[in-house]
Amino acid sequence: MSIHIAAPAGGVAESILLPGDPLRAKFIAETFLEKPVQYNTVRNMFGYTGTYKGKPVSVQGTGMGIPSISIYVNELFRDYGVKRAIRVGTAGSILADIHLRDLVIAMAASTDSGANPIRFGGRSFAPAASFTLLKTAFDIAVAKGWTPKVGTVVSSDMFYTEDPEEWRLWSKFGCLAVEMETAELYTLAAKYRREALALLTISDSLISHGSTSAEERQTAFTQMMEVALETAISA
Ligand code: HPA
Repeated sequence: MSIHIAAPAGGVAESILLPGDPLRAKFIAETFLEKPVQYNTVRNMFGYTGTYKGKPVSVQGTGMGIPSISIYVNELFRDYGVKRAIRVGTAGSILADIHLRDLVIAMAASTDSGANPIRFGGRSFAPAASFTLLKTAFDIAVAKGWTPKVGTVVSSDMFYTEDPEEWRLWSKFGCLAVEMETAELYTLAAKYRREALALLTISDSLISHGSTSAEERQTAFTQMMEVALETAISA
């Protein structure tokens, strides 16, 4: 047991999927995993371990934002020996050629978060994906005939920004999309020498202000899940 995760020792698989929404963790476990066993209900941040194509895989909700994902990923890496962590989330497009329902693979994550300036005493760290996981996920998606967009994302601490045009600065520097967790996941993977990747479906656009229907989100989500699960069992 750790403070926020009630799994017994060995109760979490070496490969884990990390959705923000705990109910999505439940849905993933019940829809995609064989014989899922729930190992966590603390704070309703559900976690499950099962198998995918016979190989152990866990799925754990992280909550929204860097402070929340930081708690879960610290405990998963430090206390449960997780080796491969794949975030499966949503993001808002901030670049014209990133469209609703696109699959974005985050190569690296810029951030406005206070976490890394605190951690590194004002120095700047470069949170980056695992090359192995990134290449594997990209190849799997392409083999399925999909066209993932690979590039940098922004992990923001603010969903409701004071300046609604703030995203334009990141867009100017080529960031594809904004979400709220990846920079911390990649930073912790670097610290603990583990592998991490963020797969993101585009759920809304800060440029067009469009958003996806529930059905469209479901299709894009299922494609992302296939890539995530195949990547999780690839090692
Ligand atoms: N901003 C931040 N996080 C998000 C967004 C957004 O527009 N869409 C999905 N996650």
